[in-house]
Amino acid sequence: MNFWQGKQVIVGIGGGIAAYKTLEVIRRLKEAGAAVIPVPTPAGLHFVTELTLQSLAGGPVHKELLHSIKPGEMDHIQLARKADLVLIAPTTADLMARMAAGQADDLLTTLLLARQGPVLAAPAMNPAMWSHPATQRNLACLQSDGIHFIGPESGSMACGETGTGRMAEPATILEAARRLLAPKSLAGRRILITAGPTREELDPVRFISNHSSGKMGWEIAQAALRTGAQVDLLLGPVAMPPPLGATLWPVVSAIEMFDTTMNLWQKNLYDAAILTAAVADYRPEHRQTKKIKKGEIPTEITLLLTPNPDILASLSAWTREHQTHGKPRIIIGFAAETGDALNKGLAKLIRKQCDLLAINDVTAPGCGFGSDTNAITLIDHHGLQEAWPLLPKEQVAQRLIATLAHRLNTPTLEPPP
Ligand code: C5P
Repeated sequence: MNFWQGKQVIVGIGGGIAAYKTLEVIRRLKEAGAAVIPVPTPAGLHFVTELTLQSLAGGPVHKELLHSIKPGEMDHIQLARKADLVLIAPTTADLMARMAAGQADDLLTTLLLARQGPVLAAPAMNPAMWSHPATQRNLACLQSDGIHFIGPESGSMACGETGTGRMAEPATILEAARRLLAPKSLAGRRILITAGPTREELDPVRFISNHSSGKMGWEIAQAALRTGAQVDLLLGPVAMPPPLGATLWPVVSAIEMFDTTMNLWQKNLYDAAILTAAVADYRPEHRQTKKIKKGEIPTEITLLLTPNPDILASLSAWTREHQTHGKPRIIIGFAAETGDALNKGLAKLIRKQCDLLAINDVTAPGCGFGSDTNAITLIDHHGLQEAWPLLPKEQVAQRLIATLAHRLNTPTLEPPP
């Protein structure tokens, strides 16, 4: 189930100070179960030592173009062909120029000429070098040759300057690599996802909310992006930044989430909606425009609450009315319950009329708000009752996206009765 387990990654290392970040990339790849083959250029070895690379990769460093092959050792062509990915980090201006020219004057560029599978380059250089027409020309040339790029990012550089040229961070590089290799079962699909809590304001300083961390929806957005979908993420107030590449729609209140969801969905651009947000069921009937002052009210106050619209039910109802005019769309809801989860979930599926409902009991061990794991039971109107084991939320998301992709790509299932 672990994505990197058993994958083989050649990590090319050019001669730039950002090579120190590549050590972290190698460490994380190894930790995730990948086999890493470091291939530094001679200049790269001025920035990181062979011993460091060998220790982190847990195997030999390949650095020489001309050396005799020992029995059982792979030659360079075999090496270049066998790997699942060639990652070049940092990719310097000089390396880009040599790659674009098709030179093969060291082991790394030779491997790249023999390479037929995916190559991901993480450039790092001084901002003036990056924006130089020669580098930009080489970039265009390498992109048209099928090389993928991640970064460079903007910010302060090791050389003291500020601008675009800083190598992407290890987590960003690894995510880009993963997306490059992942099967694209949702390519060309567009998914709308709601996540996180909503806040219902009493006055300018106070609100009613809930414990939702937004993690489940965040992981689902990430999983959808990895499989090639375009993702619109309607995110309530949470601490996390959105996953790389998602179109973010920040919202605060349930009404805002309702309006944004309905407006987007009614554009008929989406293949699916996955509503994981913990929407507040009620909001204060009157929002005070000034802070409620202790001294100015009686000792007890009564809050009058009014129900919020149900986004999931409204979206399903609208879709059933308009289904004939467009492509079939799938709506998935989540139901966080506290005890008797299956029966409550079955009733909710009928009430809200979504296509699939993922039920979880938030009082079960490992399933509470903010936890990194979840155990869900997936139900539909055709009798599906699939109880998944307790899994990291990343894997729950991956399985849910695989189910969605299967249903979208096999549109034989009947709509809800
Ligand atoms: O009724 P309950 O809150 O348990 O329903 C959960 C499901 O309904 C989730 O998918 C949630 O995002 C959605 N929901 C909604 N709008 C509401 C309340 C819940 O979309 N006002």
